[in-house]
Amino acid sequence: MSQSFSVSALRAQFPVLQQSCNGHALVYLDSAATTQKPQSVIDAMNNYYQYNNANVHRAAHCLSAKATQAFEQVRDEVRSFINAPKREEVIWTKGATEAINLVAQSYGALLEAGDEIIISTMEHHANIVPWQLLAQQLKLVLKVIPLTDTGELDLTAFAQLLTEKTRLVAVTHISNVLGTVNPIAGIVALSHQVGAKVLVDGSQTVAHLPIDVQALDCDFYVFSGHKMYGPTGIGVLYGKADLLNAMPVWQTGGEMIKKVSFSGTTFNALPFKFEPGTPNISGVIGLGAAVAFLQQQDRAALLHYEQGLFEYAKAQLLSLPDIALVGNAAQQAGVISFVVKGEHHSDIATLLDQQGIAIRAGHHCAMPLMESLGLGGTLRLSIACYNDQQDIDSFIAALHKTLEFL
Ligand SMILES: Cc1ncc(COP(=O)(O)O)c(C=O)c1O
Repeated sequence: MSQSFSVSALRAQFPVLQQSCNGHALVYLDSAATTQKPQSVIDAMNNYYQYNNANVHRAAHCLSAKATQAFEQVRDEVRSFINAPKREEVIWTKGATEAINLVAQSYGALLEAGDEIIISTMEHHANIVPWQLLAQQLKLVLKVIPLTDTGELDLTAFAQLLTEKTRLVAVTHISNVLGTVNPIAGIVALSHQVGAKVLVDGSQTVAHLPIDVQALDCDFYVFSGHKMYGPTGIGVLYGKADLLNAMPVWQTGGEMIKKVSFSGTTFNALPFKFEPGTPNISGVIGLGAAVAFLQQQDRAALLHYEQGLFEYAKAQLLSLPDIALVGNAAQQAGVISFVVKGEHHSDIATLLDQQGIAIRAGHHCAMPLMESLGLGGTLRLSIACYNDQQDIDSFIAALHKTLEFL
């Protein structure tokens, strides 16, 4: 595999990877669940607590001014990272899940009985349940895009599901089970033709592909910091300003108000309108360091390297007996799902763990997808920039041993 950067230098920035698990060097292939954090992210958060800790936007003292400045600077950095036109279009949330719930409940408040929402069969529960609940609350119609045999969205069926009553299409950019990269710009263009808005779940994308919300022309884009080398508990909702302005407030309290009296309350402008209470300040600082970490890389070279590792892992897996890959889309990234014929996924994952290999087994929070595939679960390995060929070789050797043992 050719590479124009040093993976060993990159890997050395991740302290958690320098340890053993169950007496073996740790092989971490579960980055789709959460990525590991580089030292720079850990240092930024420690540094904030050690030198700059104060509440933001409130106190008239030096420490609060420093904290506010650092906090708001990250908003500018994230704006530029996803190429959003305006900084107030970047809303802090706890993660992708909260961002989707915010849109479901706030944009949802503008919908009426009989309006239609379209999701897809490959969605994570986070992009199913909020819409299901909203549909029940408001008597909306929830439609689901089926998949092709290769694990891609059936775009012909999608075109037929769209009607003049479609108010929102909520789809994932990359499937956390199949690795399928969906053609988002095309989906957005088709949806806009009937006047529907589009929410894109970028949870599995941010660590791999550069995001340009203007090129995609999506109306909402959501992601979590912890899946892009940043901390847990912080995520982003990007939304087009005119839409966010038209949407009612969701959660309420301090920070999101302009004026409160017992006769009524007026609300703050974007982005604060959707950010009640003391925010996750250290999380935002850590996210800023994660953005800087990614921006310091040659993203094209990184993607090329990851894709090489991905193809290598797929080929190695297929060289073993009784392995079936789940999902074979023309464009895939990040995750590879597979099953071992005749064996339960949990047994395999446990035996791999005993050999220091961390992969995921189960339904991956995509039970409707599993149902459509007729599977109880899969094994899933997921790749990040710090993985190397040795990780894949160790995984394959351990899997080989496990299959022989069984
Ligand atoms: C595709 C997808 N969407 C949404 C989520 C939810 O992310 P979070 O738990 O960080 O809110 C995940 C997490 O695995 C995911 O993979």
